[in-house]
Amino acid sequence: MKIFKNKTDLIAYVERLKSKKKTLGFVPTMGALHQGHASLISKGLSENDFVVVSVFVNPTQFDNQEDLVKYPRTLDSDVELLTTISEEKIIVYAPTVEDIYGDNVIATSFSYDGLEYEMEGRFRSGHFDGVGTIVKRLFEIVRPDRAYFGEKDFQQLMIIKKLVEKHMIPVKVIGCIIYRAKDGLAMSSRNTRLKSDYREAAPFIFKTLKTAKEKFGTKSATKVTEWVIKQFANHELLELEYFIIADIKTLKTVKRKSNQKAYRAFIAVYADDIRLIDNIALN
Ligand code: PAJ
Repeated sequence: MKIFKNKTDLIAYVERLKSKKKTLGFVPTMGALHQGHASLISKGLSENDFVVVSVFVNPTQFDNQEDLVKYPRTLDSDVELLTTISEEKIIVYAPTVEDIYGDNVIATSFSYDGLEYEMEGRFRSGHFDGVGTIVKRLFEIVRPDRAYFGEKDFQQLMIIKKLVEKHMIPVKVIGCIIYRAKDGLAMSSRNTRLKSDYREAAPFIFKTLKTAKEKFGTKSATKVTEWVIKQFANHELLELEYFIIADIKTLKTVKRKSNQKAYRAFIAVYADDIRLIDNIALN
């Protein structure tokens, strides 16, 4: 497996592949890789000659310093997992903060036509400036043909599509379905930090989303939202931060349902001090 720690070497390697007309997929990650990441990488491998996987805990997208410090960093086991997927066709880029930012660790400010003010943007200030900054830089370094993002972070996926459109970056952004544990909990690098009682409680999130979807067939968004808030008000361990039913194009909360529009329900929940997010397509 090729592992690059600095961009100069990676850029030279990518250049060689491109001169041989090889196609390149790209899966940006923050490491602590799990089956969710693996599903994106496998999709990338099925559609490209090679896949670059970046492993970089990006400091500029964390609004919470403690979350950044506690974020798991497990490069050795990440590489082990990648080796089981493909030794030859995966290229790892695991840079240092300096390689990406020099000594200027700050985010550029981006406009995503309002997408950035909803949900995660409201609750995690500056988060999407940090995401835009790192993903744009990584696109410039890797120059992939296709880039894969999970619907687990649906708002991020929409924001990256907007970033690419606005900055005319020549890459096709591909969304991938949410990969879940058997009990329904969406896979996340943060799940490993859940204490056992919280881990046992966490599937309640997806269970509630599924029932909300059923209810949305006959009830208004407001009624469904009230029902979800009530479920969490009665819950001993999980604390609801937000539940929103939104139009998938604008990510704005739906006021009145329309048959012409597609909707998703989005949720953020605290399990102890660990923040979990999930979402589900409603129609
Ligand atoms: P990270 O949380 O490591 O996620 C990397 C990619 O994997 C994202 O596109 C995310 O949506 C996807 N992913 C995570 N869990 C998933 C699951 N259970 N099913 C499907 N896809 C899943 O998202 C980031 O890192 C960062 O913000 C990044 C884009 C790398 C920029 O720093």
